[in-house]
Amino acid sequence: MIQEKEYMLRRELFAQKMAQFSVAIIGSSSTQTRSNDTEYPFRQDSNLYYLCGFKEENASLVFVKKRKKTEVYMFVQKKDKRLELWTGSRLGIAKAKEKFHVDDVFCSDAFDTKIKEWMSAKGVLYYDFNQSDARVKKLVKHFLTCKNIAPIIGKMRLIKSDAEIQLIKKAIAITKETHHKAMTLSGKLDFEYELQAEIEYAFKKNGAYSDAYTSIVACGNSANTLHYVNNDKKLVKGELILIDAGCEYEYYASDITRTIPVSGRYSDAQKELYDMVLDVQLKIIEMIQPGILRSKLHQASEKLLCEGMVKLGILKGDVKKLLKKAKHKKYYPHGIGHWMGLDVHDASPYKDKKNKEIKLQEGMVLTIEPAIYCKKDDTKIPKKFRGIGIRIEDDILVTKEGYENLSASIAKTTQEIENLS
Ligand code: GLY
Ligand code: MN
Ligand code: MN
Repeated sequence: MIQEKEYMLRRELFAQKMAQFSVAIIGSSSTQTRSNDTEYPFRQDSNLYYLCGFKEENASLVFVKKRKKTEVYMFVQKKDKRLELWTGSRLGIAKAKEKFHVDDVFCSDAFDTKIKEWMSAKGVLYYDFNQSDARVKKLVKHFLTCKNIAPIIGKMRLIKSDAEIQLIKKAIAITKETHHKAMTLSGKLDFEYELQAEIEYAFKKNGAYSDAYTSIVACGNSANTLHYVNNDKKLVKGELILIDAGCEYEYYASDITRTIPVSGRYSDAQKELYDMVLDVQLKIIEMIQPGILRSKLHQASEKLLCEGMVKLGILKGDVKKLLKKAKHKKYYPHGIGHWMGLDVHDASPYKDKKNKEIKLQEGMVLTIEPAIYCKKDDTKIPKKFRGIGIRIEDDILVTKEGYENLSASIAKTTQEIENLS
């Protein structure tokens, strides 16, 4: 649990970053239509959640900064018996005043009127440029300049607090159970979606309301489609299944990939390829420490994977030349990993204001996910590797001394995985 005290601290920090005579508006996300009159489950905007932990829709936080002092206001939906019958209980204004240590709480309906009162600030308007809230866009013309709030809060979100790390650990603990369950079940089910259902059932059963992203359960050649989410093919004995699945716990993500054999045993060729990727993953994780650049980790993963590809006969030639010509990208087209937190691809910057890459620091969390994708119809590679896609992904916390692999206890070597099958 994140305490109100921590949210207050975050709001104070944010207020310090605002210019004098400015207004900042952070709105809730809006409900998304699935089709006709049905909606996707509502999920709060991560930045609003980061600053106050409020989960309801039609809400906003408004910061009004005069010279030095900043006042913080909150807008929430008012109690409404008729609507609450349909969509569930709302906190309401009175309770919100008790719960949140802000200067005042108003009804969402009063947003336009109240904002007008505070617009004497007139200097800078901060809002999320990617949010298409018409009420906010209307205000733009009344200010001298506008600034995007997203990179400012994104930067704050880069360093995780102890409480945030606990929630990420909990998300990973639940995800561990689900991956281990998948390892025991893979040979007993017929279709990818059955395995997906077992994984997502286990998320909910263990207290995680949602997945952090759509689970990928890709058997055989399907693993070579990076964002394969159809999960509708048969599980074929003798093939591998790439499972990229992670739950969200109290808004914090986990993001784990394991590649496991349908029949419980890796073939020699699958093992050769798997061990090569695993060796690279372990070496990259070992490099993690404060001060290193993520791009350095990526470059090292490209080099190591390219060397591995040459050893296994997937690429032919001199590693340096192959890397220069980017030949490896055909088999490893994505990056080594990404920030993770309130969003699976956490919305934090990779570069600072001067466009310089941000170095890894204590408290950051990132994924490490090297991979190799060998397409079924690729006649340039040894036959035994065709139709195999392997990715191995863990979630890593940067510590003072180096790193902590938060998902280290999820079975990962071929031996560990076979033992669970
Ligand atoms: N699950 C998405 C990713 O690994 O980045
Ligand atoms: Mn990832
Ligand atoms: Mn993933």
